[in-house]
Amino acid sequence: MEKKIKSLLDRMTLEEKAGQLQQCGPSIVGAFDVDFEELVNMAYDGRISGEEFQRLMSTAEQDYHESELRAGRIGSYNGISDAKIVNRLQKIAVEETRLGIPLLFGYDVLHGYRTVTPIPLGESCAWDPDLWERTARMSAEEAGAGGIHMTFAPMVDVSKDARWGRISEGAGEDAYLNAKYGVAKVKGFQGSSLKEPDTMIACVKHFAGYGAVESGRDYNRVDLSPQKLYEEYLPPYEACVRAGARAVMPAFNDLDGVPCTINQWLLRKVLREDWQFDGMTISDANAIAECVEHGIAADRRDAAAKALLAGVDMDMTSDCYSQHVVHLVEEGILPEEVLDQAVGNILRIKMELGLFEHPFRTDEEKEKKTILKPEFRATARKAAEESMVLLENSGILPLRTECRIALSGELAGIRSEMSGTWAIKCSGEDCVSIADACAQRRIEYETYTEEEIIRCDSVEELFQGYDVILAAVGEKKNQSGEAASRTDLALAPIQKKMLERLAKSGRPVVAVIFNGRPLAIPELKGQAQAILEAWHPGVEAGNAILNILFGTVNPSGKLTTTFPHAVGECPVYYDHIRTGRPAGRSKFTSKYLDVPSEPVYPFGYGLSYTAYTYSDLEIAERKESVTVSVKVKNVGDVDGMEIVQCYFHDPVALRVRPVKKLIDFVKTPLSAGEEKRVVFEIPKEKLGYYDPQMRFVVEAGEYEFFVGGNSSDCLVCRTNLCGLSN
Ligand code: BGC
Repeated sequence: MEKKIKSLLDRMTLEEKAGQLQQCGPSIVGAFDVDFEELVNMAYDGRISGEEFQRLMSTAEQDYHESELRAGRIGSYNGISDAKIVNRLQKIAVEETRLGIPLLFGYDVLHGYRTVTPIPLGESCAWDPDLWERTARMSAEEAGAGGIHMTFAPMVDVSKDARWGRISEGAGEDAYLNAKYGVAKVKGFQGSSLKEPDTMIACVKHFAGYGAVESGRDYNRVDLSPQKLYEEYLPPYEACVRAGARAVMPAFNDLDGVPCTINQWLLRKVLREDWQFDGMTISDANAIAECVEHGIAADRRDAAAKALLAGVDMDMTSDCYSQHVVHLVEEGILPEEVLDQAVGNILRIKMELGLFEHPFRTDEEKEKKTILKPEFRATARKAAEESMVLLENSGILPLRTECRIALSGELAGIRSEMSGTWAIKCSGEDCVSIADACAQRRIEYETYTEEEIIRCDSVEELFQGYDVILAAVGEKKNQSGEAASRTDLALAPIQKKMLERLAKSGRPVVAVIFNGRPLAIPELKGQAQAILEAWHPGVEAGNAILNILFGTVNPSGKLTTTFPHAVGECPVYYDHIRTGRPAGRSKFTSKYLDVPSEPVYPFGYGLSYTAYTYSDLEIAERKESVTVSVKVKNVGDVDGMEIVQCYFHDPVALRVRPVKKLIDFVKTPLSAGEEKRVVFEIPKEKLGYYDPQMRFVVEAGEYEFFVGGNSSDCLVCRTNLCGLSN
């Protein structure tokens, strides 16, 4: 392969080399007088309605820059999801360009292509690496049939701040969980051989620390101590790279003042030297040009030079490379070897995918047969069922089969809101709402909007014929995701008013919440007899929700993100560092005056229709590992699945340590009455941390191990361990 790359490089002109670095998207043309970005802004600030935007878009045409492609000035496309168009453009690349180098097609397949599964934050609550891998495999098969070679996923940005809209795109607040999630996704996307057409390159993003944007405001600065970066933010990216992810996307943000897009230390030292990454890197959208706005590059030419020198191989859509790289090399500012390295990294990926031999990995027939296959729907339903978290249940759930239901709130009926963020390919019609699922199952139900309930004269009368009211509340899909940070995490005023009235109806209320982030909803448990956290569950939303509400499925999901009382607490997370004044009854301790110190729902929390008890926590030391084991019993009368979590704490250390840190977990089936011993084999390496001199140490001394069904409710055991010498 390296020989082939070299011989191609020898034959390429500087223009052709620069062309390989260019990823572009189709431009939207015609139909309107302003450019596309302005049109999006007009829809955003209300100058045109959503319907008008859709109407204009449906009449628009796409310009694929074919003359540029023929001239060898494009190496990759982003955002095309149609096998016919993919093949047409690929044909031009291989037959009409001078060297016939195939194109690479990238797309944001974060949680399903057309068969959309729960948003990543939701799916992480399944704590199930096999499921995470299976859904990624399914996405790769479906997206592969649509012509996609690379997905801009997984996103493994640890996020501890619910204000940040993109918390929805990752696996929550814990580094270990994000690492497990990311590795499963990489395996699933990439399959066993990239030459197979049902695989895609995984592009791990956003490297690094994007989830730590100050005040949760998207695209904001990130300032982390080296220890915090290495212990709390880098591990998931590293795990994905070591698991073989073939692409990495630097983040929009700066790290301590240097934007990741031009950060030589991050992209050359950490990524390539320390982690031995030999895949390709691709900038985030327009990020190279944005280095000018950051004030770190004088102009786009300077930005191009800095990004390429830092090791960004491909330019996503900014055109900085295509306009300036040739001159930069000709003028001696950029060594040609640096350019060759970047081109080589991209050609290697194209070869690994087998695109030189088989540039056409799909066709329209295959695409049609693969999209939304019934077995994909079954997997999406299973994923949704496993992701949902039962937050409260006074005993009203599971519902009786023959009960009459009042569906209240518009989210019970809007199909298109079920898919969540980054579900570009999924149309609302693909999704099953709660109302759809009720209709299909011939359940007796009626729907009521928020306004109808708020305005009615008597809620007692309105709901007197019903056994239960299902209140669908939460966020619409555009309230989370990219560029969707919020300073208010409460329910919308209209939903609050509706819930207040429902609570006075005399009927039991079951709240189903749809959201892309933890919400501040401490009041809800006083208004509803049960609360089901459904996230944005994907195409099988309604079916999965009813399966849980009626008890066909016993809920087992557990939160991977802490639920605060109020937005003012954010960021709030379980693995916080110890202070000299831990929260307590005394005034002068670390807490707020106006909210309790314990979160509303802690990390790892979730109920089921049964209950589990924990006993006999035991620890045994081996030379290089520790065995932690515990007995877990299903003490209820239905079968269930328990997520058993193991945490640890280092009570005296060279740097202040977190109060608790997740170190392992097991998801295990337990039938009614069954008891089993769950065993964790923990390599001592996992107990280590970076000392004040940034040396990684695993010290001898006392350790605490905690095992339980959530981060606040655990059995604990102290033990002395021998350390590991480095
Ligand atoms: C996002 C990326 C995404 C890219 C391409 C950017 O705005 O930050 O996560 O992959 O767009 O769509």
